[in-house]
Amino acid sequence: MEIKFNDFQKQYKSHHQKFDKAIKGVLNSGWYILGTQVADFEKKFAGYIGTKYAVGVANGLEALQIALLALNIGPGDEVITTSHTAAATALAIISVGAKPVFVDIDEYFHIDASQIEEKIHSNTKAIIPVHLYGQSVDLDKIMAICRKHQIHLIEDCAQAHGATYQNKKVGSFGIINCFSFYPTKNLGAFGDGGAITTDDKYLYDKILQLRNYGQKNRYEHEVYGLNSRLDEIQAAILLVQLEYLDRNNKTRQKLAAAYVKYLRQVKQIKLPAARKNSQSVFHLFVIEAESRDGLIEYLKSKGIATLIHYPIPVHRQPCFKEYNSYLPVLEDKIKVILSLPIHPFLTKREVKYICENIKNFYKSL
Ligand SMILES: Cc1ncc(COP(=O)(O)O)c(C=O)c1O
Repeated sequence: MEIKFNDFQKQYKSHHQKFDKAIKGVLNSGWYILGTQVADFEKKFAGYIGTKYAVGVANGLEALQIALLALNIGPGDEVITTSHTAAATALAIISVGAKPVFVDIDEYFHIDASQIEEKIHSNTKAIIPVHLYGQSVDLDKIMAICRKHQIHLIEDCAQAHGATYQNKKVGSFGIINCFSFYPTKNLGAFGDGGAITTDDKYLYDKILQLRNYGQKNRYEHEVYGLNSRLDEIQAAILLVQLEYLDRNNKTRQKLAAAYVKYLRQVKQIKLPAARKNSQSVFHLFVIEAESRDGLIEYLKSKGIATLIHYPIPVHRQPCFKEYNSYLPVLEDKIKVILSLPIHPFLTKREVKYICENIKNFYKSL
C-alpha cells in the first residue's frame, strides 16, 4: 500500500467536470484579473467566515503583509507571534520593517497566551496568533490582552478554514484576518492564493488599494501598494472548493476520530489535545511520538508518508538569527512531533493500516 501525505490527483478527479467547467468559463470570458469570479468568491467567502468583507490576494504571506501595512505597522514597531509556524508568518512582519517577538507554545502547539503580556512594550502594535494544525488558539485570553493593551489582533488562519471558536468561525475575531489557499490547505487553490477578512469598511478600502499597486482609481496611486491579486482562474476553482469545504472538514474530523480510536492505547504516543469551546478542522493530525525518527523510517518502509511541522522553528532559522529567543517548550516538542496523513481522500481503512504499522513498530523495539 502507498499512502501519500496529500493526494491532489484524487481531489481533481473527484469533481473534475466542475473544475474543468470553472476554468473554461474563465478562459472563454477573456477576463483574467479582478473580474466576476474574484468578486463572487470574495462575497461567498466573507459569508462563509461571517465577516462583512473578504479580499482575495495572491497568497497567505502577502495577506499578512497587507494586513500589517493597512494597520500602519512598520519600522520601530513590534509584533508578537509564535515561532512554531510556517516561516511566512514572521516573514510578513519583517517585510514591513517591524520586529517579530516570539512567545513559547502551549500544550495545543499554539502561542501560549499566559506568556504574551510579559513581551508587550510601548512599541508593540499587534499580536498574530496562528490557528495551527486546524485548531483555534485561546482567543478569549488573547482578545482580552489586545483590549487591555490596545493592540491589534491579526489572526493567521492559513491552516484553519472553517474551524470554530465558541461556535464562530476563526477569521472573524481579529481586526484583520489572513488566509492562504496554498494547495495543501483545507481550502486549496490549484496554485497560489490568499484572502483577508475584516468587518471594518475603512480597512477594507485600504486593503483593496494595497493589493492593487496602491491605486484608489485606475492610475491614481494614493499609497505604495503591491501586486497581490487573486486571479480569476484560482477564484473560479476556489468557488468549487468552497462548496465542499464543510464536507471535507467533516471527513477530516472522522479520520481524526479513527486515529484516536486506534492509537488511544499506544502508550508511546500522545494524541492531539482538543481545546475547550473550539472545533478543529484537522488541517494536520500531529502526534507526539517516542523514538520518532525510527518510526518515520519504519512507516516509510511500509509506504506511509509522514512529515514534521516544523522541524526547525522560525527563531532558529539562519535568516532570523537576530530574533533568536529562549523557547524551551517548543524546543522540546519539535523533537517528538509527527504529522500523520490526513486529507479528505484518505480512507478509514488506510488510517487503520497506518495505526497497525505504528503499533508494530513499537512492538518491534
Ligand atoms: C500558518 C501559515 N501562515 C502563513 C502561510 C503562508 O501562506 P502562503 O504559502 O499562501 O504564502 C502558511 C502556508 O504555508 C501557513 O501555514
